[in-house]
Formats: sequence, structure tokens, C-alpha cells
Amino acid sequence: MRLNTQDYLSLACELAVRGHGLVEPNPMVGCVIVDLAGNIVGTGFHKKVGEAHAEINALHEAGSLARGATAYVTLEPCNHVGRTGPCAQALLDAGIAKVVVGHRDPNPEAAGGGTFLAKHGVEVVFEENDQCRNILAPFLHRVQTSLPWVVCKWAQTSDGYIETPEGESPWISGKESLQLVHEKRGCVDAIILGVGTVVADNPSLTVRNAISHRTPLRVVVDPTLRIPLDATVLDGEVPTLIAHGKDAKPLELENRAISFLELPEINGALDLHPLMKHLVEEYDATNVIVEGGKTTFEHVFNQNLADELWIFTSPRTIGDANLANMSSIFDSLNPSELEKVISGVDSVYRWSVKSNN
Ligand SMILES: NC(=O)c1ccc[n+]([C@@H]2O[C@H](COP(=O)([O-])OP(=O)(O)OC[C@H]3O[C@@H](n4cnc5c(N)ncnc54)[C@H](OP(=O)(O)O)[C@@H]3O)[C@@H](O)[C@H]2O)c1
Repeated sequence: MRLNTQDYLSLACELAVRGHGLVEPNPMVGCVIVDLAGNIVGTGFHKKVGEAHAEINALHEAGSLARGATAYVTLEPCNHVGRTGPCAQALLDAGIAKVVVGHRDPNPEAAGGGTFLAKHGVEVVFEENDQCRNILAPFLHRVQTSLPWVVCKWAQTSDGYIETPEGESPWISGKESLQLVHEKRGCVDAIILGVGTVVADNPSLTVRNAISHRTPLRVVVDPTLRIPLDATVLDGEVPTLIAHGKDAKPLELENRAISFLELPEINGALDLHPLMKHLVEEYDATNVIVEGGKTTFEHVFNQNLADELWIFTSPRTIGDANLANMSSIFDSLNPSELEKVISGVDSVYRWSVKSNN
């Protein structure tokens, strides 16, 4: 069966996501080269920031078979000399006859590859493909807003509870889901938590039993600096940033990898925009996860900072009106489903929460 444009772009997307956690702040990009008979003669993806782009890796694999072939690329080939040479020139030099682009490059420094190729006689087709746009979303968002891509992640019962009754295990989702969380943590730049959860659960917010492509910064939002001095996030094992309010009394901490950021107020809460900007400017962040709790999520949603929800739903029910429940907040966000996978007994959903992403 001969594959079509969507199939080749899908394959390029599957390749691209292998770079997650390794390529950021660059985009995840994949490339598939197909000859006139429909044979895939080269595949490649961007493997690591500073290393060859997807097109170069695919051209390398294709060798002379690239001549006259079509390249399917998730993002418009770059046209600038950054850390590596321009991909548009490399595609031209290899004799590629047609380039199918999954998404235009909004980065003014790198854009123009399509125009360059068309000017030199290569057929260029822009597809504006949804799958490509989804995997590029964090990169596109950062280029366009100077903010990181914010994923709000929580575990809930099937009736929406994110807390368990006193005396019961605090774990809502299963061990397979926990594994997914740790794998994701190892690909992001920061994990953000409210001080309420630090006090209640004393989490370590580290990557465990999973490959850590990067070490996420631990961020605690703590207006008055009431965090207990023996909290695990203050153990110095990995860096922690504490975002606090104006009149907070300084914490007496010695020789620990802790930094502080004062945030202004907006509508009676700490304004989280300067925090997100700080994460981009000082930590080169592209992806951050907010891990709760409910109060912190509410501030993130009210300040219109959430881009995606990642919700682990267990089959369990609780039905206790005194405990934190996310159902009505979730409904008010009116999200659109991106993906659903099964993880052990849990259903794991990804939702998009902004129409402009
Ligand atoms: N199931 C799950 O996925 C999940 C995930 C996380 C937490 N939880 C549960 O949720 C519970 C804790 O949730 P919570 O809602 O009480 O606490 P929380 O959201 O962890 O922390 C809330 C506190 O953080 C500070 N805060 C955060 N953002 C702020 C902002 N923009 N402006 C001002 N202050 C801000 C405030 O501190 P001050 O109070 O000092 O003003 C606020 O009261 C725990 O029981 C935990 O187990 C469940």
C-alpha cells in the first residue's frame, strides 16, 4: 500500500518526538525522504541541541538516493547558519525535488527556507498539519510569547477528586502512571508546586526510575515563605527556586542550591507571569509542569497561563464534598482533547486549554 502525505508527516512526527527533552529550546523536528517509487530512502530527527538537524540526518541516510526525492519535514527547513548549517541549502545541494512542510517556522532568525528552496526550483508545499503543530506547540508558544509551555498535571478519581480522605493512601493513580510522570519530568525544565502541597505531602519533585534528559528546576510558590526548613525540596539535591511575595521574611538557609524570586501581586494573588518569564530568561525553559494543588491550579488558570492539561483518571470514586475536586474547574476551561492513553488501570488524557495554541 502506498502511503500518503499525512502518513509520511505522521512518521516524521513520530521521529521528531524522540528528541523530547534533548533538543529544547530547539523544536522537535523529524524528516522522511521518499523516492519517486514511494520508497522511504532516509529518515532522521533532531537528536540534541547543537547537533545536526532532522533534514541533515535524513539526507545522510539517503545519500545519493535523495536526488529527485521528496522530503517530508515537520517544520519548515531553516535558512540560517546557527549552531549548524542551513538545512534549505543542504536539501538543495542533495538534489531534493520537492519539500512538504508540516508547519511554517515563526522564528524570524530561521524562517525563509521554503522561499529559498522555491526560488531555486524546488517544489515546496506547506501543509499546516495539526499533528506537526501539536508537537511544535511548546516551541511555537515560546517564540511567540516568550513564555514556557505550561502543562497542568494532576491525578484524579473518576468523580474528579484530587485528595483522598484522611488516613487513606494519598496515591490516586497507579504505578504505571507514576512511571509516566517521572519520564515526563526528565524531559521538562521546571516543576511548579504550591506551598500547600509541600506542607501536606513533602514531595521531592525529582526524576526517579526514569531517564533524566534534563534536571527540572523545583519551583515552590510560597507567598510568605512558610515552607518548613526540613522540606525535601530544600535538601539541595537539585536546585529549587522559591517564588514569594513582597514582605516575606527571609529563610535562614545555608549552603543549599536554593534561589528566590520576588513576585508582584495581581488581583490579590502573586502574579505568575514574571515567574514564567524568569524561567525562560534565566533557565532557558521551554516546558514546565504545574503539579498542583488545586489552589495553585486556580491561580494558573485565572492568569491564563495554562496551555495543556495532563490528567490521570483512576477508576476509583470518593464522593466526599469536603475534599478538593477539579470537575467544575475542568468544565469551565472547556478544553479540547488531544490524546487518551491507558496506563495500567488509569486513563490518561491530554487536553488543550487555549484556542490560540
Ligand atoms: N492529586 C493530585 O494530582 C494532587 C496534586 C497536588 C496536590 N494535591 C493535594 O492538594 C492538597 C494541597 O492543595 P492546596 O490547594 O491546599 O495547596 P497548593 O495549591 O499546593 O498550595 C496553595 C498555596 O500556595 C500558594 N500559592 C500558589 N500559587 C499562588 C499565587 N499565584 N498567589 C498566591 N499564593 C499562591 C498559597 O500559599 P499561602 O497559603 O501561603 O498563601 C496557596 O495557599 C494536598 O492535599 C495534596 O495532596 C493533589
